[in-house]
Amino acid sequence: MTVSVLFVCLGNICRSPTAHGVFEQRAAEQGLADKITVDSSGTGDWHVGHEPDSRSMAAAAKRGYDLSALRARQVIAADFSSFDYILAMDHSNLSDLQAMSPANYAGELALFLHYGKNCSTEEVPDPYYGSGDGFNRVLDLVEEASEGLLQHIVQKHKL
Ligand code: 4NP
Repeated sequence: MTVSVLFVCLGNICRSPTAHGVFEQRAAEQGLADKITVDSSGTGDWHVGHEPDSRSMAAAAKRGYDLSALRARQVIAADFSSFDYILAMDHSNLSDLQAMSPANYAGELALFLHYGKNCSTEEVPDPYYGSGDGFNRVLDLVEEASEGLLQHIVQKHKL
């Protein structure tokens, strides 16, 4: 069986592509590339078709993650049929997703950092308008939560 994970932020050019790239690489390192499928999307449509923000790509590349093949897309209703996990970067993304979610959604719709064991916050702060260090903060939180999410998925789905 395959477990599918969708990371969601506002623009799908900073936080969720970072989560997409980091989590996909972590899964591959654990030999789970063919068991876990990963995607990302945004609640907004401003950046549809765009590559990740150059600042996100540069910060990720310094830690060995290549985000350059990713392209932004918007969340669609069918995502609730396609994904076992739909994980929001902040409370605003989560409430937008809850408003779209069918009542019988069988997967886990949650804040991504809920799965992090040592995250000091519930939200991945939006780095888009801030000064440079926000992008490293995003990576720190995403790396921590990716470890916890991978453990959760491996245990729950017996991978
Ligand atoms: P993201 O960051 O949600 O982490 O991709 C943002 C990117 C663009 C905008 C807002 C947030 N924007 O308003 O264009």
